[in-house]
Parts: sequence; structure tokens; C-alpha cells
Amino acid sequence: MENNRGQWGSSMGFILAAAGSAVGVGNLWRFPYLMGSNGGFWFLIIYLAFVILLGIPVLLGEFSIGRFTQLSPVAAYKKIQKGSGFVGVLAIIAPFVIMTYYGVVGGWALKFMGSFVTTGAGLDWSAFTGGDLTLGVWQPLVWTFIFLAIAWFCCIFGVKGIEKANKVMMPALFVLLIIVIIRSVTLPGASEGFMFMFANVDGFTLGAVPAALGQVFFSMSLAMGAMITYGSYLSKTENLPKSAVRVASLDVLVALLAGVAIFPAVFAMGAEPGAGVGLTFFTLPGVFEAMPAGAVFGAIFFLLIFFAALTSAISLIEACSAFAIDSLKLSRKAAVSILCVIFAVLSIPNSMSFAAGTPFSGEVFLGMELFSSVDEIVNNFILPLGGLFMCIVVGWFWKPQNAIGEIESTPGYTFKAQKAWSMCIKVVTPVLIAIVFVTSVLKLFGVVSF
Ligand code: PFF
Repeated sequence: MENNRGQWGSSMGFILAAAGSAVGVGNLWRFPYLMGSNGGFWFLIIYLAFVILLGIPVLLGEFSIGRFTQLSPVAAYKKIQKGSGFVGVLAIIAPFVIMTYYGVVGGWALKFMGSFVTTGAGLDWSAFTGGDLTLGVWQPLVWTFIFLAIAWFCCIFGVKGIEKANKVMMPALFVLLIIVIIRSVTLPGASEGFMFMFANVDGFTLGAVPAALGQVFFSMSLAMGAMITYGSYLSKTENLPKSAVRVASLDVLVALLAGVAIFPAVFAMGAEPGAGVGLTFFTLPGVFEAMPAGAVFGAIFFLLIFFAALTSAISLIEACSAFAIDSLKLSRKAAVSILCVIFAVLSIPNSMSFAAGTPFSGEVFLGMELFSSVDEIVNNFILPLGGLFMCIVVGWFWKPQNAIGEIESTPGYTFKAQKAWSMCIKVVTPVLIAIVFVTSVLKLFGVVSF
């Protein structure tokens, strides 16, 4: 079974696919709004520190587990350490749960793009998700299903199809992003957006720390089985540390570029930068409508969100289907198809949670509706826990030497940063995750407040 699971056709294909997984709605939608509501510049600094101290070490750990075992996450963890299969199970639960709302966002992007193309304007997001448009609450769901069908098509052909899709969409995404940036930064008043991103030092709150931690995990697709699965399709010739640094850099770059595309335009048009979750879909359509040639740029922007969402969704689906193929012995077609149908069904409650009067409306967790509750719980609890266990398993049971052995199995390669990496994976990363995690749990139960 392991031998016919496929391999990446080229190093570039792998980097683009892993970057495609990392670069997603998290960069274009989550990062800017988190930065906007967590004090701008300081959030950025904490975020960058976490990428270096946590993100890159964990990503490298996941690539090496994947390549060493050539297995999907649950089987992979079992192979490196008996009894640690539950970490793999966490790494499957996370992408599974995320796929119950990721497709909803992908569907919004499709609909908004279509709206800019056909009417020259975006939509009223509240009316759209709230069920006030013609098709009622079914309208956003139809678009979610279309998005999932496209993702299904990209996944049924296996690793080769995934590579092809990423090789087209990732370069396109960069080009589209640059076009939007040029428009945004040339608007009168755009410089205020830069000030907000890079010179806003007053808005810091301690809440930015756990938010940045969750965002690093989400944005770099960590602790979700995706990077282990993608790593399992690698050949020994791939230099893993170099790949990890490249993927992380591309991910940070796109998050920053998304900020540069969004904030100058938001300020230039006098909109509100701290609008939270609604920034992309609520604030930005108005921003595009108000600018010269806004219809074109609005359509381009939502097309780019669609590409970003699709390449990430592909990796989330792939993590779950690789598990179903390896562990449940399903064929690829059956695994991908069954999963996509399940995701479609489970998207219904998340999508409907924005509309009033549905069985899924109302507050679920900390005053948030179902959709945001799921997002919050996965990112702030399941992912950090998964990352923590991963560090413990690799650092203290499988042992860094074994991972280093895998990393150095690339012909002619010596891993120079091996001491620093071992230190990170054994101590620095898990301690940091544990501190931030415990603090956010205490905050949740009202023991501390900040
Ligand atoms: N990294 C993606 C983003 O930033 O939107 C989200 C994601 C994709 C998470 C794939 C996990 C994953 F496996």
C-alpha cells in the first residue's frame, strides 16, 4: 500500500503544494483581522517570533515524520512511537473539523467574486449569510457545495492532481495579490494603513499572545496532519530544513502582503480596520466599491481568496483521505467522495449559524455563534495541544536524533542547525505552547483576566 501512494513530481511542486496548504484564508482573512484587532504592530512582532521559535521547528518535525514513515498521520505516529497514535488522531480531528467551516468561507469568496463580476459590487455579508437574499439560508450553502465539489475534483487524482492544481493556483495567487496591492497603495491616504501596520505601538494587549500562537498553527497548517501527509509523499532528495524555511517564509510573506493589500485601502476609504471576522467580507466589499475601478479589483481580490482557500482545503481533505486510505483501506475515490459529502452536510450548521431563527442560530461558546466557536476551539485548543504532543513525542520518545537521521538522509546533506532544532523541539517550543495554552484556559475560566 505504502509503495503506490505516489510522490511529488518535483521539489517545486512540493514547495508550492505545502505553501498552498499554508497560504489560505488564514493569511488573507484571519491574519489581517487579528492584527487589526490586536494592536497592529505588536501582534506582528509576536507572530514573527512564534513563527521562528515554534512554527519552523514543528513544520520540520512534521515533514520528517511524514518522510520517515511514508504513512498518513495516525499510522505515522504509531510507527515512530507505540501508544502515540492518539496524537495522529488529534491531527485528523483538526482538519476534519476545520473542513466543516472552511468550505463555507470558500463559498463566500466564490459568491462575492461572482457578484463583483456580474453586478460590479459586492454583497451585504450579513444579508447574505443571514438568509435575507432570494434563496434564503440556502444561498451561501449552494456556494459552499460548489466550492467543495471543485476541491473534490482536485483531490480524486491523488498527489499528482494536487501538485498540478497548486502549480497553477499558487503563482496566480501571487500575481493577483500584487495587482490588488498596486491598486491599494496608490490610493490617496493609503499611508495611514502602513502606519497602522508598522507604527501602531499603543494597542497592545496580552490577548495578542494566545491569538498569535493559534494563528501560527492555523496559518502554517501545523498539528493537522496536512504537513505530515504532504511530507509522506517526499523523496529522500528533498532538503527538509530548506523546504520548511521556504514554506514558512512564503506563508509570512503572503500574510504581510495581504495586510499591505488590505489596510492602505481600508484607511484610504475611511473604513474600520478592527472589524474582526467581518473585515474581509463585511468591510472590504464596501472599500472596493468606493475605489476607482473597484469592481475589477473586488473580483480579483475574491478570486485570490478563492484560490487560497482551495489550495488549503485540498490539503485538509488530503490529510483526512490519506488516513481513510491507509487506515480504513478505502480506495482514493471512495475516501475523497465520502469525506466531501460529510463535509458538505456538516457545513450546513456552521453556515446557518449566521442566520436568525434556524436550529443552529444563537450563541454557543463565549458569546460566539457556532461558526466562530468551532474556529476558536480548534485553533486555540486542539491545535496547540496537538503541537504540544507532537513536540513531546518527537523530542522525548522518538528522539530528535531519529528525526535528524531522517533529515540527513538527503544525500550529501549535513543539518547544521540540529542542536538548535533539538533544543526547540524538546524544550523551547513545548514550554512556550504550554505557557500560552494554560494561560488561555485560565482566562477562559475567569481565573486570570487580561
Ligand atoms: N493554513 C491554512 C490557512 O492559513 O488558511 C488553513 C489550513 C489549511 C490549516 C490546511 C490546516 C491545514 F491542514
